[in-house]
Amino acid sequence: MSKAPPVNIRRLGPDDASAFRVLRLRGLTDHPDAFTSTAKDWDLPLEAYIERIEAGHVIGAFEPASGELLGHVFLPTHLATGIKTRHKCEVWSVYVVPEARGRGIAEAMLTHVIALARSLGFSWLKLQVGEHNAPARQTYERLGFEVYGREEDYLRLPDGRSINELMMQLRL
Ligand SMILES: CC(C)(COP(=O)(O)OP(=O)(O)OC[C@H]1O[C@@H](n2cnc3c(N)ncnc32)[C@H](O)[C@@H]1OP(=O)(O)O)[C@@H](O)C(=O)NCCC(=O)NCCS
Repeated sequence: MSKAPPVNIRRLGPDDASAFRVLRLRGLTDHPDAFTSTAKDWDLPLEAYIERIEAGHVIGAFEPASGELLGHVFLPTHLATGIKTRHKCEVWSVYVVPEARGRGIAEAMLTHVIALARSLGFSWLKLQVGEHNAPARQTYERLGFEVYGREEDYLRLPDGRSINELMMQLRL
């Protein structure tokens, strides 16, 4: 894609916990079909957010002028510990606020995450996406992720909807 990175991308630190909490709860509340966790799961005190920021890599996109946090993605490297499976890492929770979508922010965050995972020695990245989620799928496919599996009825939402999930992978 020819769009220049429109934002600053960096790892979150403890000082970002408050903005992260607001963003995370907004994403989970507005998009129950896009995430396995619920807003209730993440209705936690600030200390819990600091712990999560410190545990793995939470990458954020920041508006250069205002410093506002516009998006996040997680690379939970601390969970990739199995001696026979630690060459693979998952990507979780890609989210961009609605007012900043279509600027290439998800692509910029994921490009950062791919480079980070490569520099940490991982050979593969894996993620999951709702089959219906065209904007997310388009972004992942453009970056080279390929579908390797499909799970039917993966999520059942409170409103009765059933979500089929695609598994995607990228060889680094
Ligand atoms: C998915 C999401 C992260 C994308 O963020 P973004 O910063 O707008 O993404 P980008 O600007 O990098 O790219 C979006 C792409 O999707 C495309 N797109 C947007 N709406 C689309 C639609 N309805 N159908 C197909 N493609 C669509 C855009 O055209 C763009 O592709 P292009 O650059 O080739 O034109 C954002 O929409 C979001 O947070 N959604 C809600 C949460 C979510 O679904 N997260 C993913 C969980 S797996």
